[in-house]
Amino acid sequence: MLKSLLACCLGASVLITSFCASAEISIIPEPQHIEAGQGSYQLDASTGIDAPGDARAREIVSFLRDAIRDQTGIRLSESVHAHGIALAIDPSVKGDEAYRLSVTPRGVIIQASTDKGLFWGVQTLRQLLPLEHGASAAIPAVQIEDAPAFAYRGFMLDVGRHFYPVSFIKKQLNLLSYYKINTFHWHLTEDQGWRLQINRYPKLTSVGAWRTEADGSRYGGFYTQADARDIVEYARQRNIAVIPEIEMPGHSVAALSSYPELSCTKQPLPVPTTWGVFKDIDCVGDKGTFTFLQNVLDEVMTLFPSPYVHIGGDETPKDRWKDCLSCQALMHDQGLKDEEGLQSYFIKHIQGYLTSKDKTLIGWDEILEGGADKNAIIEIWRGDDEARKALENGNRIIIAGPFYIDAPLDKLTVRDIYRTDITHSTTPEDDSVITAHRAQILGAEAPLWSERANPFNAESKMYPRLLAFAENLWRSNAHDDTAYADFQQRLHAQYPWLDAQQVAYGPEDRPVVNYSVTVNASRDGWQLHAKRGFDDLQNRYTTDGTEPTEHSPTFDDSVDLKQAGTVNIMPFRKGLRYDNATSITLTDNLALGQSITFAQPPSSSYAPGSVLLDGVIGNVDFHDGRWAAWLDSNLDATVDLQRDTTLHGISIGFLSAPESRILLPKQVVFSVSSDGKHWTQLYTDAPTVDLSSSLQRVQRIIFTSTKPIVARYVRIAADRNQSLPTAFPRGATDIWLFADEILIQ
Ligand code: ACM
Ligand code: ZN
Repeated sequence: MLKSLLACCLGASVLITSFCASAEISIIPEPQHIEAGQGSYQLDASTGIDAPGDARAREIVSFLRDAIRDQTGIRLSESVHAHGIALAIDPSVKGDEAYRLSVTPRGVIIQASTDKGLFWGVQTLRQLLPLEHGASAAIPAVQIEDAPAFAYRGFMLDVGRHFYPVSFIKKQLNLLSYYKINTFHWHLTEDQGWRLQINRYPKLTSVGAWRTEADGSRYGGFYTQADARDIVEYARQRNIAVIPEIEMPGHSVAALSSYPELSCTKQPLPVPTTWGVFKDIDCVGDKGTFTFLQNVLDEVMTLFPSPYVHIGGDETPKDRWKDCLSCQALMHDQGLKDEEGLQSYFIKHIQGYLTSKDKTLIGWDEILEGGADKNAIIEIWRGDDEARKALENGNRIIIAGPFYIDAPLDKLTVRDIYRTDITHSTTPEDDSVITAHRAQILGAEAPLWSERANPFNAESKMYPRLLAFAENLWRSNAHDDTAYADFQQRLHAQYPWLDAQQVAYGPEDRPVVNYSVTVNASRDGWQLHAKRGFDDLQNRYTTDGTEPTEHSPTFDDSVDLKQAGTVNIMPFRKGLRYDNATSITLTDNLALGQSITFAQPPSSSYAPGSVLLDGVIGNVDFHDGRWAAWLDSNLDATVDLQRDTTLHGISIGFLSAPESRILLPKQVVFSVSSDGKHWTQLYTDAPTVDLSSSLQRVQRIIFTSTKPIVARYVRIAADRNQSLPTAFPRGATDIWLFADEILIQ
């Protein structure tokens, strides 16, 4: 007690202990000014809520009633007495989102000059309630004066790469609002899926919302206009503005698949199933493109009352525009120097249209290239240099780059997010501009890109990182370790609440789980390992091809598997599913677990060479931990089968991902030997390298012998590609060779 009191007197805000009731006050984001009072207010069924009579105030009252009932089980009185809860508009509370909250044994008062402030006061009050149900609830006495440091505190969800149901989004809006994040940026269209119903263009959702995956299954979904209205309304009730993003002119393949006449080539395109940056973009030289986009934006603007419309504008390769007669004609007619000028022309045209409808354009920082109008808001993702350029150009900015929460949990920790200071740069030149133009920084946003996120693992990427983000932007105060330690204590006090909301939050600084496979010492089976980010994480698995459930067999750190075949593994914690199943196919063959040597070792940035003989075949995701890789060197591997062995076939897989500079080898040679000195060449192959396709694919080089072969050593040599066409950027350096799984039958 004495220690807590001292801490309180010294100004530490973690534990505020009043004289009468010992109650912990732990609020995220921490209010700007907070002072513990004496005693507590006893809330019970006789407590009523007094509030202004306007519609929004009535909504806020009903929101608070529901929240108190859900959390404490107490149904507040419908009548108003003295000594209850009072909400009041008070112009002396300065600031659009500011509020004052006073809790004394005689009652609770929330004052603000706006309904936004009143609502945030309500959200803070909720954080003072106990978690347990009871006939009454003690709310610790406290005086709070609070307002955010930044007006824009956003979360972005990419629903294009993976689709999220309305119920998922509503759950997140509840959580975002609880932590006073006030903007939901809804990234509604992508190469891999168009997700918003547009009445005038039905194929956007009948065609563009669906893709055929590599296994032939169909994946997709979209939001009807009624869904969109429902989300906007749900968010509004929770003080959250929804900003729609319709990507253009890039990241639009799903739209071009629906209406190929919008592309430069006018050729049919499938909705892509792999990730990356695609060369097919909207044809700027075709007037029909602008007609289409304006018609789409017209419907978007009827659905989203937000004064802002995000139009993307990022990652727009100019290849198609360079080859397109109508795009080139437009460029010359307009006297534009190059295709960057065309991009700028395109954005300014769309901006003019939005301005005519009283909307402000937001775009990713590429829209600065070729010149941007200063009224556009620039979302900065590539770095401080772009922030500096935008600020010097007079634009207002939103900082997103440091908060990409699709990043692995160990690469962007809760601490990293807390410690990021968006008002400064480590580059002195950028720092002086950023500090001088502080007023143009609207705030920041945490985007969740969904290449590897889905409705089951998204919460582990969002939380608790978004709590650090929310406090960073609300407070913008100290970003040092002392401040972080204080935050972390309050963060830990939030976990029981997140548990009660059934949130599958992740660890603070390590992955939820990493699965790996090793061949056991006797080479007659495998060990499946789980490196767990939580001690209470359970790995449920099946070996019959079905999806695991919470009743499937479980293992903690490892399990022995004797049979080849497919094992599906799914992480669970506290009864919540944490991800989609990881599927691993174990293949038995003569090379399994044998020793392998290399003329040049594989790169330490990817998996060790032993993955070539673990019986697990890599998939097109080259980060899946199954690929060994060589940078600017050749693969020359020798497998030792320990004794002369009869074999019938040899195969190995290579990855092709030209956009990531991963190319198929120029030539592959299989040889065998009984003594390791004298070699017999069995097979050579020269795979076709297609640099024009951005598709990622795995190609297996397969040799099958009609006659049995006896050998102890098998050598596989694969030479990298060194003579690349000059059009391939950066030529023949920085070329990766990715290999996985040598199978010997
Ligand atoms: C982006 O990450 N392409 C904005
Ligand atoms: Zn064109």
